Formats: sequence, C-alpha cells, structure tokens
Amino acid sequence: MPHGKKKEQDDLLKERIHIPGRKTYEEVFDKRTLMELYNLMKDGVIDILDHPISTGKEAKVFRGEQKDGTPVAVKIMRINTAVFKKYRRYIEGDHRFKDVPKGVKMIYSWARKEFSNLRVMHKAGIKVPEPISFSKNILIMEYLDHRGYPAPMLKDVKIDQEDMEYVSDQILGYMKTLYNEVEMVHGDLSEFNVLISKGYPYLIDVSQSVFLDHPEAIDLLERDVKNFVRYFRDNGVDVTEEDVVDEIGIEVEEI
Ligand SMILES: Nc1ncnc2c1ncn2[C@@H]1O[C@H](COP(=O)(O)OP(=O)(O)O)[C@@H](O)[C@H]1O
Ligand SMILES: [Mg+2]
Repeated sequence: MPHGKKKEQDDLLKERIHIPGRKTYEEVFDKRTLMELYNLMKDGVIDILDHPISTGKEAKVFRGEQKDGTPVAVKIMRINTAVFKKYRRYIEGDHRFKDVPKGVKMIYSWARKEFSNLRVMHKAGIKVPEPISFSKNILIMEYLDHRGYPAPMLKDVKIDQEDMEYVSDQILGYMKTLYNEVEMVHGDLSEFNVLISKGYPYLIDVSQSVFLDHPEAIDLLERDVKNFVRYFRDNGVDVTEEDVVDEIGIEVEEI
C-alpha cells in the first residue's frame, strides 16, 4: 500500500473512532477489522464509531453514527478460531449455505447470516433492530435506545406485574410469527437477548437462528420455549410449556 494512502487511512480512523478509556484503537481491533471499518467509513455507510455498548467474547457492539447523525449499532464479530466449531453446527444444514466456509470466511458468513435473519424477521413485523448493512465481520443495524442510553436487557429492567405480562405476551407473539410465518427458530432466546426500547421488547442476537428445516431446529425451539417459561414464571407470569406450545401451534410430536 502506498505510504500516502496508509497515512490517510490511519488519520481517518483515529479521528472517527472514539473509544473512551482505551489508549489506542489498535488494542481493540485486529488489522482486518480496522481495514473494513475504514472501507465502511470511506463508503459512507458509517461516519463515526462511538463508545462500546457491549464487549462479549464473540462480538463487540458499538454505538456509531451515520453522516446525518442517525445512531446505529455496529456489531463486530471477533475473528477468533475458538468459535469456528460452534458456528459450523449452525451453518451446516442451513439451505442458504451451499458449502461450509473455512477460516475467516466462517466468521464473515456469521455476520451475513445475522443480517439475513434480521431482514426476514423485520419483514414479518417482528420487533428486531432493522438491519442496515453488513460487510465481512461487521453488521450495522438500527440502534435501540432508552431515554438517551442503550436499551437495557430484559433481565435488567424492573417492571411491574402488568408490564411483565405485556412483555411475555409480546414475545410469545413474536415466537408465533417466527414459527408460523417465517418458519424459523430464534435459537438463543433468553432475558439476555431481549432489549426493551420505545415501550416494546425487541429480539436481538439472531446469528444462530435457523429455519425449521435445519436439523437442530426442534432442539433449539424446545430450549427457547423452556427459557421463556422459566424466566416469566420466575417473574410471576402464570404460563406453562403446554400453553406456549398450544399458542404457537407446535405439533407435540415435534418437541
Ligand atoms: N441494535 C442494538 N441497539 C442497542 N444495543 C444493542 C444492539 N444490539 C446489541 N446491543 C447490545 O449489545 C449486547 C450484545 O449484543 P448481542 O447481539 O446479544 O451479542 P452477543 O451476545 O453475541 O455478544 C446486547 O446485550 C445489547 O446490550
Ligand atoms: Mg447476546
């Protein structure tokens, strides 16, 4: 790469990436990710990358902004070989992927899969962050907020009984649409992957979601139903697994 271009890229990134409490952005991102962020900024998909909202083992999520100041959530999947095995299980058996990608391409396909899952869910009217764009290991989506702060996870909100029932009804409705209309299973449904924003619960973290024809779909569905019932029963909602199975319309033999 010519020296001039490298300099320009470095300057642009330093100027546009704000990570409080970190000496340099190099500590947070690997080279490939930095290059990709540079491309996304150059192409005008995002303008700045603000503070981190969440730094998990497999993904980091940042608040970013588009040129017109619209906030976005930028989910960056870590390029990390330890997760290849886990990802492989979900990509194998997904009819959208002819071959299981190898190496870093596996991570890229994970971001693509989350984008595509968000798109079908959003189209079906399920409350999920609207997907905006993806490139390599980076997914850009609608930023969910709550009074100027990132939207809290369901597990962290203190709500009364009536609101808890409302949230459980909403989520059950999403599960019903997901199963019957999208013909998909979330696969990692829990109080950690539901955010509360603008008075609604939103489903997030859908990279592992699969269509019903996937060999693991029924096991994942069973786990989602169990998690749902466990959380809401613990929080005073009178709901049983049978109620959920009935309401969604799952054939009992399937579970
Ligand atoms: N669209 C979004 N808007 C606001 N915050 C988000 C958004 N997506 C994710 N987050 C935040 O990032 C956290 C991690 O995101 P998630 O997709 O669950 O990734 P993972 O659990 O794999 O790290 C969420 O719990 C939430 O706090
Ligand atoms: Mg999560």
